[in-house]
Amino acid sequence: MNTIFQLFLIGLLLTLSKLEACNYSSKGSVQFPGNFSFGVSTSAYQIEGAWNEDGKGVSIWDDFTHKNPELVRDGSNGDIAINSYHRFDDDLEILNDLKVDHYRFSISWTRIFPNGEVKYRNQAGIDYYNKIIDKLLASGIKPLVTLFHFDLPMEIQKMGGFISPLSIEYFVQYATEIFKLYGDRVKHWITFNEPWFMCKLAYGDGIYPPLINASGIADYLCIDSILKAHGATYRRFKSHFKKQKGQIGISLNSPYFIIADSSDKDILERAMQFNLGYLAHPIFSKAGGYPEVMVKDIAKNSFLEGRIMSRLPSLEGEWKDIVRGSADFLGLNYYSSAYIRYASQPVGRNPSFERDTNYETYNKFPSQSSQSCDPAGLEGLLKWIRKEYNNVPVIITENGYRDMGELRDDNRTSYLKTHLQAVLNALNDGCNVVGYTHWSLVDNFEWLFGYTIKYGLYGVNMTSPKRDRVAKKSAKFYKKVIRSRILQMEDV
Ligand code: NOJ
Repeated sequence: MNTIFQLFLIGLLLTLSKLEACNYSSKGSVQFPGNFSFGVSTSAYQIEGAWNEDGKGVSIWDDFTHKNPELVRDGSNGDIAINSYHRFDDDLEILNDLKVDHYRFSISWTRIFPNGEVKYRNQAGIDYYNKIIDKLLASGIKPLVTLFHFDLPMEIQKMGGFISPLSIEYFVQYATEIFKLYGDRVKHWITFNEPWFMCKLAYGDGIYPPLINASGIADYLCIDSILKAHGATYRRFKSHFKKQKGQIGISLNSPYFIIADSSDKDILERAMQFNLGYLAHPIFSKAGGYPEVMVKDIAKNSFLEGRIMSRLPSLEGEWKDIVRGSADFLGLNYYSSAYIRYASQPVGRNPSFERDTNYETYNKFPSQSSQSCDPAGLEGLLKWIRKEYNNVPVIITENGYRDMGELRDDNRTSYLKTHLQAVLNALNDGCNVVGYTHWSLVDNFEWLFGYTIKYGLYGVNMTSPKRDRVAKKSAKFYKKVIRSRILQMEDV
């Protein structure tokens, strides 16, 4: 097994065994603004199932899980998942139970365009999402639709996936058709989910499909294609679909950072630019392009390695302008913070993102795991975004807690409460946060972990063919907050 993945698993297991309820104090109002939007999130491959039904084509996750079951912890896959393709009404029932303002779900590209290319459309797939959107709207729930959440069509992968510039045009064509199909009713779009996380694992570390193991090179190329595909889609949307009056953004993942050694003052800024800034700077900063520190240091490292050009592609000229300013809001996926310090010796593989960052992550208090539940990190991140990107509107598109599936999920409940408190603190401090979306509505297929770890507010009976949903303690808590728009300390 790949060493990075082994370390990742060990880290996760340590975290799971030690995480305790976290505390966080209130600063100011406990009331959320009336127009603040509360929601929950899922993604197609993780919940739909029906992987080959009604004309759906094969995605890289179908292909990967079928060919390499040993790489998924429990050997499972999303063939049936929690059967949302057939049981959407059950999902709707729990969405209505929570009374969320919005529901974030993703479209499976191959359900609508089985070969990836738009020349052949699958009506059953089109109907499925029409049904979801119409039923949500009839329940007063706004759809927040992600166009791409990891499940690339296999046929597009065969043409090089995201390291090929062809992917840019394929994505824009796909998005254009989706806007035509659903843009009369969907007013909030997300182009890509967590591009950095996906590109790194899929093209750098080689542990997500398409298993390309070229760290510090192919992962950077993947991001470059995705940024361009995002920017070009935004321009297409604003020029051809203006009348739809929709908003479009991107979901970026980032931890926040805890710096223990005060002599490392500038490391926070460096880490932020290498993480959130990597994709946010090209889109949301005034200057555009990749963060200066990345351009400079990756070029320097590349030349020291004897290369004749930087491993970081150049994002200049016309593309820089297409990408700069290409979002109406920033979607933020935040889970936890990391302790970092400057590396005393080179870290990671050569070359790799880790080596380029020149810092290392570590666990300061091995007997505790406070960084795994760090609401202060969310508050810090929101304030950093306010300062760095001119207080752009932020929708938290993911935030959640993993456990083994307890229905009395006290840890998740306290994680949710303290992170909502962090959002309130940021709001009270003037941050432009317009929505919060919990990951996830319901337990589902967690990628390389299969069904062994859980993130849902609702559990699922995986042995029943209907995959019955059952409310956890955290769902009851969230429901109360949504109804009252007030965060009560004693509710946890
Ligand atoms: C990131 C991803 O967007 C989502 O698919 C995943 O399940 C959660 N975070 C939890 O790991």
